[in-house]
Amino acid sequence: MKRLFAGLLLAGVLILAVAYLAAEEDPARAPAAAPKADAGENAAVREAANGADAGGKETAPEAPAAEEKKSAAGGERSSPFLFLVNRNHPVAEDYDPDIITVPGRNVRGERTAAEALRDMLAAGEKEGLRFVVCSGYRTRDEQRKLYLSQIQRRLDAGMTQTEAVEEAGRVSAQPGTSEHETGLAFDIVALSYQNLDDGYALTAEAKWLRAHAAEYGFVLRYPAGKSDATGMDYEPWHFRYVGKEAAEEIEGAGLTLEEYLGNEAAVSLSQEDTQK
Ligand code: DAL
Ligand code: ZN
Repeated sequence: MKRLFAGLLLAGVLILAVAYLAAEEDPARAPAAAPKADAGENAAVREAANGADAGGKETAPEAPAAEEKKSAAGGERSSPFLFLVNRNHPVAEDYDPDIITVPGRNVRGERTAAEALRDMLAAGEKEGLRFVVCSGYRTRDEQRKLYLSQIQRRLDAGMTQTEAVEEAGRVSAQPGTSEHETGLAFDIVALSYQNLDDGYALTAEAKWLRAHAAEYGFVLRYPAGKSDATGMDYEPWHFRYVGKEAAEEIEGAGLTLEEYLGNEAAVSLSQEDTQK
């Protein structure tokens, strides 16, 4: 009798255990699986997608999403200098940089970037190089004048308005969309070669900067062969401060800032964009 009772008790416990496990696996109760992000998908897009999900469907578990964000972001995504300015991403209206004169140079720049520039150029000059910083911080009005003069030069050479605007837009950013308006970009040439053309890339100064800029937090912003991503022609002289860690990641991976920051940053070169 005792044995029968023990047997019945064991059977009851087993039935309860099986019922409990079955309920745990019920798809109606399980949380939705976290969507697997494409390698190129960026954190902002994923955040937006998660937000949209929140209204109707069950939300994805928090932890994996945060982890994805971290690995896709790289170490310095939170750097105050790591943001995109291009024809699709104007300088933020409330951006208010601390602009100083770059020590020992005749240009202005954002304080941290200007000090990094000073250190970088001093290191190169110790090795016998001679740099000229031909452009730094520009106000929006200064950028507008440069941009309009690029268009005018092409109109004077006989281009149509459409042609002139399209071509000028590949060498000069529209006012409101130039990195020079952030104080984080500098055009650096050699004392011995001050033309803003591809020939500058062959100078010892250009080669040294290409090799060492990232150590000081700068990236070559418009590399050769990357116009589809940046929207700009190759500029071997234009360096942008992003911070050391990000610069080393970007240069190490051979990326543009657009590619590093994600798909939403990609530049469209449609006629419509260039005529804005
Ligand atoms: N030349 C660069 C693209 C500028 O105008 O900001
Ligand atoms: Zn520049």
